[in-house]
Amino acid sequence: MKVLICPDAARASDRVAGMIVARLARAPRTVLGLATGGTMEAVYERLIAAHREGLVSFAHAQSFNLDEYVGLPPDHPRSYRHYMQEHLFDRVDFAAGATHLPLGDAVDPGAEAARYEAAIVAAGDIGLQLLGLGANGHIGFNEPTSSLASLTRVKTLTRQTRAANARFFPDPAQVPRFAITMGIGTILRADEVVLLALGAGKAEAATRMIEGPLSAACPASALQFHRHATVVLDEAAAARLTLRDYYEDVHPEGGPAPI
Ligand code: GLP
Repeated sequence: MKVLICPDAARASDRVAGMIVARLARAPRTVLGLATGGTMEAVYERLIAAHREGLVSFAHAQSFNLDEYVGLPPDHPRSYRHYMQEHLFDRVDFAAGATHLPLGDAVDPGAEAARYEAAIVAAGDIGLQLLGLGANGHIGFNEPTSSLASLTRVKTLTRQTRAANARFFPDPAQVPRFAITMGIGTILRADEVVLLALGAGKAEAATRMIEGPLSAACPASALQFHRHATVVLDEAAAARLTLRDYYEDVHPEGGPAPI
């Protein structure tokens, strides 16, 4: 696992956006795995800016998002489809039909999860998977005790996750109880994984992910099994790492800015 510690959140977001830009420059047909959440907003802003400057095109790429709330139709203002349209898709040049999320309002969410997994396989699996980190160590909506071999399926959200995401809803009671999420096994099939975690609230989970035992109790620790995983942190999220000096010796200030 490559651990890049950047001086602040802005530079960490720059670093991640730069990795996506570099990948698309090298492989325009990349299948991107995309994430939602507050952390990703700055990454998407940078991608939009790079697109406007002519530095990146999504015209030949495809995307599959990690997850979607069960029960929310795509046009619901709190759905992840809506988030993605607003924060990225409507502002760059993906081809029509090239962006994919699970359908939150599918009549049979279990069947929809299986269809989504099959669609990812049919696309040749994810080329670059972008991930955020839950304060409880989740990736996607793979909550603690998720099978480390899991595929896309319906998961019940923990109280902690529903509370963390309540800020996006007018009333905390409206946060859905279930989500369709790519599994940890789905994520581990990606060619390259890039996880971004920012702020002191992620420091404990980041430490468990990087230096803790491989355990379903911290789903993100499964990335220790991935051959090409990069974790990008700001100083606050890196504050509890035992081997911090080592990571900083290998990649001072998170390494060179790629854009
Ligand atoms: C949500 C999403 C995750 C995201 C995580 C962190 O529950 N399902 O994909 O990475 O929470 O979100 P944030 O960036 O808002 O802290």
